[in-house]
Amino acid sequence: MTTQPLFTSHDLAGLALQNRIALAPMTRSRAGEGNVPTELAATYYAQRASAGLLITEATQVAPEGQGYVATPGIYSPEQEAGWRAVVDAVRAANADARIYAQLWHVGRVSHTSFQPGGKAPVSASAVPLEGLTWTSVGQVPFSPPRALEIDEIPGVVAQYVQGARVAKAAGFDGIELHAANGYLIDQFLRDGTNHRTDAYGGSIANRLRFLEEVVDAVTAVFPAARVGVRVSPSGTFNGMSDSAPEALFAAVAQALAERGIGYLHAIDPEASPTRFSALLRANFPGTYIVNGGFTQASGNAAIASGEADLVAYGVPFLANPDLPRRFAEGAALNPPDFTTFYAGGAKGYTDYPTLP
Ligand SMILES: Cc1cc2nc3c(=O)[nH]c(=O)nc-3n(C[C@H](O)[C@H](O)[C@H](O)COP(=O)(O)O)c2cc1C
Repeated sequence: MTTQPLFTSHDLAGLALQNRIALAPMTRSRAGEGNVPTELAATYYAQRASAGLLITEATQVAPEGQGYVATPGIYSPEQEAGWRAVVDAVRAANADARIYAQLWHVGRVSHTSFQPGGKAPVSASAVPLEGLTWTSVGQVPFSPPRALEIDEIPGVVAQYVQGARVAKAAGFDGIELHAANGYLIDQFLRDGTNHRTDAYGGSIANRLRFLEEVVDAVTAVFPAARVGVRVSPSGTFNGMSDSAPEALFAAVAQALAERGIGYLHAIDPEASPTRFSALLRANFPGTYIVNGGFTQASGNAAIASGEADLVAYGVPFLANPDLPRRFAEGAALNPPDFTTFYAGGAKGYTDYPTLP
């Protein structure tokens, strides 16, 4: 049998990956007291250590960056210890595994009950997000955000640096900046949410500035080769839109290429009518990871055609801790239990069966 393209090794800017299957970042809302990753999280990630690259669930770099119940943080000593246990468990399960922490600030996708002092969430601009969110007080509308003052932005950049420092101390191989899905960095990038008239808004160059400053700041902690960025150019989740996404995301890819970051990761669903992978790849010479509805067959095809270097799997990996083995053997997949995606303790988290 010929080797499937997904099972060839890959050099991620000097880091050897055993295969081209990545665990996509997935929020599971099971952090403990103080937003600390639990032992169960260590088990969950260790079960998935056969991925070439594991990317953790999004983890907020500061209390203000939280927008959902029981998401883990990456700013306190207790959180560092929790993440250290995750990293150690993954390495104990597979010495060749590589694990990156996805650094997150939700911006306006939040509610005052998550915010220190019950303050308004922050964003690029005071553009409210329509809809309801789950909080400790039940399902409530998102809280209207306030625009960050220009002199507050360095403080937010510093929060990402703190997240990077904690990630480094916890032993992660690298970090992925969450610039996708309508969270804070994305709120600066796209003009549906960025109405600023200062140096951080208006032109594409200005809207890129916040992302560039965060990348430049965290590369003082991790080398650029160990920093990845995740984008979602066609995504409308969390009320996102942009007037010229092709121009914007080509510029994003170019700015990241100039900085020599290790990888660009895009949610670019296979089934999307507007695909961005070719545009991103043309503007970014480093490792390119694609994600969004890929199967074993379409993942292999994406690698074989050169569309991507790695394929990230979300839901299939959530429900199949041994996904690479199942792909290798052509085995059937466990179906996902949607009711336990964002809650449920061990159920639907660490109890999906592996092949005998
Ligand atoms: C339960 C769940 C949680 C998710 N949490 C995150 C997250 O924390 N960060 C992120 O960038 N994407 C998150 N996503 C999106 C996934 O990473 C991925 O883009 C999506 O599931 C599509 O890939 P798939 O078709 O392989 O599942 C989440 C998806 C799911 C299903």
